[in-house]
Amino acid sequence: MMKLAHTPIQPFQFLEHSLWIKRDDLLHPHFSGNKARKFSALLAAKSSLYTRLIGYGSPQANSLLSMAALANMKGWQLEFYVDHIASHLQQHPRGNYAHALALGAKIIAMDTLATQLNCHDYIEQVRMVADDAQQCVFVPEGGRCQLAYQGVAQLADEVINWQRITAQATTVFLPSGTGTTAFFLHRRFLERGVDIEVVTCAAVGGCSYLQMQFKQLGAASFGMPHIIELPKKFHFGKPYLECYRLWQAVKQSSNMDFELLYDPIGFMALQQWLAKPRLRQIVYLHQGGLIGNESMLPRYQRKFGL
Ligand SMILES: Cc1ncc(COP(=O)(O)O)c(C=O)c1O
Repeated sequence: MMKLAHTPIQPFQFLEHSLWIKRDDLLHPHFSGNKARKFSALLAAKSSLYTRLIGYGSPQANSLLSMAALANMKGWQLEFYVDHIASHLQQHPRGNYAHALALGAKIIAMDTLATQLNCHDYIEQVRMVADDAQQCVFVPEGGRCQLAYQGVAQLADEVINWQRITAQATTVFLPSGTGTTAFFLHRRFLERGVDIEVVTCAAVGGCSYLQMQFKQLGAASFGMPHIIELPKKFHFGKPYLECYRLWQAVKQSSNMDFELLYDPIGFMALQQWLAKPRLRQIVYLHQGGLIGNESMLPRYQRKFGL
């Protein structure tokens, strides 16, 4: 049986702090972490509704692998658009890219098509008006769409059930990319009237980008999660020695494994947040993504000779 929900919340030794951790990394590795949540509505959809799943992003994106696995399970063809595929990766497929190919994904590089449009506009303006568009379902980058609400609400409900037993005010902390997971958690907690706050940080694009994402997802009606701003800007996907060192320290203190794109930024923000005493119990949301380390770790090793 594929595990796609109902993960445990366990004690989490984050450096010298005793916190809790929601183990969404224990979900099936193809959907590890938030993709199982974001795609749960599609996972539950009738296979006969569509023939093709269409998405875009980076050739090493976690969402590429999850969409490939989803399409494979449903008997759909995944068409995944990327700007460019580095020749090194084409010759030596690894990580999410390799796993997605093995699951039958069709990965299309924009620089091989005769168009000036970016992936998103190409899909909307060209691909989704083709003859077979009725049978295609388009999921924007990182699963940023209302379709994701159902599954993230289920995740929120699992946290609510746990919090009821502990009977304590709670903070859920998670690093954000598109902000979809953080925002829909926040929305669900608000809708259910529980005392659980969502605190996050921007691993992609900075605070104002994240605020903009929250606005697009519905912040005018629901407000938005609290964002911790880091004093230094980290470029998404670029290896930083301090990120690696902190990632290692947390792995050691917690005896758990984490991914290298979002978690280290999350750890920095959490460390900053914990510099002041906090009265609420804190649950770190482990969003999986460990398969991405197959490509990130060698990059760290090459760059810093680790
Ligand atoms: C491991 C991991 N953590 C965090 C995120 C960020 O999630 P969101 O885009 O919902 O903010 C992602 C991307 O989906 C991810 O793969």
